[in-house]
Amino acid sequence: MNTYKIAVLAGDGIGPEVMEQALRVLDAAEAKFGFKTERTSCFVGGAGIDNCGKALPDDTLAACEAADAILFGSVGGPKWDTLPPAERPERGALLPLRKHFQLYANLRPGICLAELTDASPVKNSLIPGGFDILCVRELTGGMYFGEPKFYGERDGEIVALDTLFYKRSEVERIAHVAFKAAQGRNKKLCSVDKANVLTSSVMWREVMNEIAPQYPDVELTHMYVDNAAMQLVRNPKQFDVMVTENTFGDILTDEMAIICGSLGMLPSASLGKGKDGAFFGLYEPSGGSAPDIAGKGIANPIAQILSMGMMLRYTCGETAAADAIDAAVRKVIAAGYRTGDLATGAAGEIRVGTAGMGDAVIAAL
Ligand code: IPM
Ligand code: MG
Repeated sequence: MNTYKIAVLAGDGIGPEVMEQALRVLDAAEAKFGFKTERTSCFVGGAGIDNCGKALPDDTLAACEAADAILFGSVGGPKWDTLPPAERPERGALLPLRKHFQLYANLRPGICLAELTDASPVKNSLIPGGFDILCVRELTGGMYFGEPKFYGERDGEIVALDTLFYKRSEVERIAHVAFKAAQGRNKKLCSVDKANVLTSSVMWREVMNEIAPQYPDVELTHMYVDNAAMQLVRNPKQFDVMVTENTFGDILTDEMAIICGSLGMLPSASLGKGKDGAFFGLYEPSGGSAPDIAGKGIANPIAQILSMGMMLRYTCGETAAADAIDAAVRKVIAAGYRTGDLATGAAGEIRVGTAGMGDAVIAAL
């Protein structure tokens, strides 16, 4: 029987409670599809700071290194907001993990199910039947990590500097991920850049164009990032796969997330090189730790459940199980199950809490 080692980093806020449901669904998937996981739970984020003195404790990093994948909850909360920015849970845990494991490809699906278009801030008439976008965000380059960084005095003035730096090879590898993703979907790839202003974007666009002939079945288009931000709310249905650099991707994926209706529905995968051609990955919900609703048992666990499903797909290669989890989630939404974030008060809605949603997904599975 195939066995996968998973580091479980539930983190803060709603992280532990939604993680509990994702692991229950994982138990059910293992029983049904005949594979196993060995799980190691570790502190991360605020829980890491409180228990071990830092957001990414050494033991946690060691457990991640020994694992095939990291299943991540969420980190951060008001308790740690007074720490210096670089030590806070978000930056102190996520960015080092991305860098350490070279998790260069961030896949963020933006799916608005037909039943949930009412929850989207975009007019229903613009998104009949919902939409399904995949944003591929480059995650280990660009301004986040570019050197030099500087904050200090120069020529008698205080100045601050970040560097938007990309190697060609970094653009090439994310391009291949994006083209391959498009091949598995509707074969449309929109590359988002700012080539009218930024030199790094000029290279980005050249690389995308050069690689395109290797994927003749995929239609490549280019869009400036300001226009892309507008097109996302004007007509999200025009997009299939988008690919973009780190900072643009950070901004566009928040916009994409909210037009889907609820952050509580969106998973993500941050992928790097794993064993035997598989991806090593960190799998996490797109939403945050939601401290305001933590501990109340009302958080939507679907994003965490779908993130676990992405782990089965991209790291474990358990495609049938991953497909079944996606289908189970669609089924419970179609059947009317709604946590508070999804509820609109429409007739036929079945209001559930975190565990109730977990139960429904397991039953559908
Ligand atoms: C995200 C987050 C992170 C980022 C923060 C928490 C460092 O916003 O994953 O999109 O900027 O990448
Ligand atoms: Mg972000």
